[in-house]
Amino acid sequence: MPQTSRITKAVIPAAGLGTRFLPATKAMPKEMLPVVDEPAIQYVVAEAAKAGLDNVLMITGRSKRALEDHFDRVPTLEAVLEAKGDTRRLAAVQESNTLGDIHYVRQGDPKGLGHAVLCAKRHVGDEPFAVLLGDDLIDSRDELLGEMIRVQQATGGSVIALMEVDPEQISSYGCADVESVDGEDYVRVNRLVEKPAVEEAPSNLAVIGRYVLHPAVFDVLEQTQPGRGGEIQLTDALEVLAADEGEGGGVHAVVFRGRRYDTGDKLSYLKAVVTLAVEREDLAGLRPWLKDFAAAL
Ligand code: G1P
Repeated sequence: MPQTSRITKAVIPAAGLGTRFLPATKAMPKEMLPVVDEPAIQYVVAEAAKAGLDNVLMITGRSKRALEDHFDRVPTLEAVLEAKGDTRRLAAVQESNTLGDIHYVRQGDPKGLGHAVLCAKRHVGDEPFAVLLGDDLIDSRDELLGEMIRVQQATGGSVIALMEVDPEQISSYGCADVESVDGEDYVRVNRLVEKPAVEEAPSNLAVIGRYVLHPAVFDVLEQTQPGRGGEIQLTDALEVLAADEGEGGGVHAVVFRGRRYDTGDKLSYLKAVVTLAVEREDLAGLRPWLKDFAAAL
């Protein structure tokens, strides 16, 4: 049955230890790594705000205090910039605390993405909500979350985002078996597998880090046993919902063909930073330098 209540809540899991970026992440959350001059997490919160989700719940953990500080005001810094008349930097400093109401809950025991989402149960209540994973950045010029919200409202169940990847990369992602829906540009999800071996993958459609979920997912997550990697997997809960034809069941997917930047490992992170930096007018010197640099490699 289609849900018509407006979706306002976004859940952003940010409790991961960031081990791939050690030692940089020894005392700093990986979500604070700068992508050009904004921490990665700010792109994600801005994306949520743009889709009308201004009630954000971050699932954090130990050593994540910098996240709360970043989305807070800094009166002393603001006063200094104001006194100097540096309005450009003042606006940059203030932007992160105008994106929405940000709430925090700690995961305590990192038992996987499914468990992180379950930590949002009380905050979310009985309404559909979005989940945005901080390692995936979606280019602000491309539309994804808004489209997923529309599909959730039309179908009433849960909605995931898929992207075609090279078949040999599928073992790094959740993977979906889908079928088309007559007259629609979204698809129906029949089956989901978390990080399948290449030869067992039902397709090359990878789950990317955006979800719009029916609250029925919480009851399923409470019953979900640890899966791949010994962790409670969101993919496994969605696999159960995909087969459920009752209230809150059913999973559809939007196949995203826009620009996505992965900041989850060092190589992808560096590519993301360079890709976004070369487009910036204030860094116009980067492109010619990069060409010379690459030519000399
Ligand atoms: C998580 C999900 C996986 C999804 C991926 C997208 O995995 O479990 O299904 O494909 O995010 O980034 P992680 O990358 O956190 O291991």
